[in-house]
This record gives sequence, C-alpha cells and structure tokens, in this order.
Amino acid sequence: MTHSNVSRALAEQHQRERRLQAEARRVAAANAPLPTHGALPAFGGIWAEPTLLDVRPLAGDDSDRLLRLFRRLSPRSIQQRFFSPLRQLSGEFLARLLDVDHDQREALVALRHDEIIAVARYAGAASSGRAELAVTVEDTWQQRGIGKRLTFRLSELAVERGFDTFVARIMADNRPALRLVRSLSRDTVIRMQHGEYEASIPLVAR
Ligand SMILES: CC(C)(COP(=O)(O)OP(=O)(O)OC[C@H]1O[C@@H](n2cnc3c(N)ncnc32)[C@H](O)[C@@H]1OP(=O)(O)O)[C@@H](O)C(=O)NCCC(=O)NCCS
Repeated sequence: MTHSNVSRALAEQHQRERRLQAEARRVAAANAPLPTHGALPAFGGIWAEPTLLDVRPLAGDDSDRLLRLFRRLSPRSIQQRFFSPLRQLSGEFLARLLDVDHDQREALVALRHDEIIAVARYAGAASSGRAELAVTVEDTWQQRGIGKRLTFRLSELAVERGFDTFVARIMADNRPALRLVRSLSRDTVIRMQHGEYEASIPLVAR
C-alpha cells in the first residue's frame, strides 16, 4: 500500500468513526428535548475590526431580525444569495429559513446590538456526508472577514455532526463567494454547471 493510500484509508476510517459518533449523539438527542436558546453552548464572538460581534445559533424568535436583515440587503446581495430578485420574504419562506434543528439544519448568526448582520447556514443529511451551504453578510459589513469566520465556525459544527462536505451554488459573477469557498479549504473543487458554479468544500476535523 502506498503512503497516499494509507493516508486516504486512515482519513476514511476517521470519517466513518465521526459519522458513527454523530449518529450515536443523534440517537441520544432524539430522547432529549431540543435545547432552548439560552441552554445552547456559548458561541463567543468574532472580530470584525474594530468590533466584536456576538455569534449564536438562529433561534425561533429571530423572525423579525431576519426580516429586518433582508430589508437592509441590496438587490445585488439578494440576487446572489437567493438566485432571484426577491422583493420581500413570504411568511412561508421565512418559516423555512427559521426551520433549523441544530443538527441536520443549522444556521449561525452574527449580531451587532442585537441585530442580525450575517447568517451562515447548512442543510443536508449526515448519512450522505454533504450539506448545502449558504451565507449572507449585510452589505455594509461585507469584506471584513465576517463571512469567512462565521462559515468556519459553522463548518466545525457540521463536522461534529458527521458532515464531510459543504456544497455551495454560486453565481458566475460572485467573486467574493468564490474567494470565500476557496479560503475554507485548499481542496475546494469548483465546477461551472448550467451558468453557475457549484463548489464542493471538504471539511476537516480540527
Ligand atoms: C459572499 C459573502 C458572504 C462574503 O462575505 P464577506 O464577509 O464579505 O467575506 P469575507 O470578508 O469573509 O471575505 C471572504 C473572501 O472574499 C474576498 N472578498 C470579500 N469581498 C470581496 C469583494 N467585494 N471582491 C473581491 N473579493 C472579496 C475576501 O478578500 C476573502 O478572500 P481571501 O480570504 O482570499 O482574502 C458576502 O459578500 C455576501 O453576503 N454576499 C451576498 C450573498 C452571497 O453572495 N452569498 C453567497 C452565496 S452562498
């Protein structure tokens, strides 16, 4: 067996073990009530010079904060995030955005003065190892490292829960998002498909 084959076999074995551990946690969690917002682990903050932002998982009572964030987004950011020139969020769509289970569907938010200014989310099935990633940073807060740091935190949670890959759809002219997904892993693979990019980002346990 070559050195690279051994490394790959070891990596696959670690991955299998992480999935089994994640499965065991899911089974245990299935019998416990979902943690309330206050009981969730402390997520600390992230620096967006010169400010320390609070970071926590999205909570059930965040609907007004999400709506206000959406209203502050530029049409370009809305188009890049939702692939559509949405003018408003319908109640149904908002409910979908709020539908996180802190396991297979998660969203981390960054807050400034109790207002959400950025969201990084994934949704998937750990049995497949893959989750779809989507990130939004309010326009006036972009280019300060928030998208990258929040997504990095999200990837740590995803790995703990048995995921090994984030997949992101990115519009062809969205350079910031392309740089963001490349910055998460040097093994990120980006393919052009039907006029948009699909990025496949391997996640690693740290
Ligand atoms: C894409 C987005 C999430 C990036 O968030 P951000 O907080 O501005 O990004 P960061 O400051 O963390 O920077 C991430 C990378 O993008 C680069 N970047 C950020 N803004 C950029 C810009 N306007 N032009 C070129 N590169 C840019 C940064 O230099 C960094 O790359 P590096 O690590 O190689 O230096 C944000 O621009 C956004 O919300 N856009 C609208 C919604 C969207 O496009 N979502 C992605 C679809 S999933």
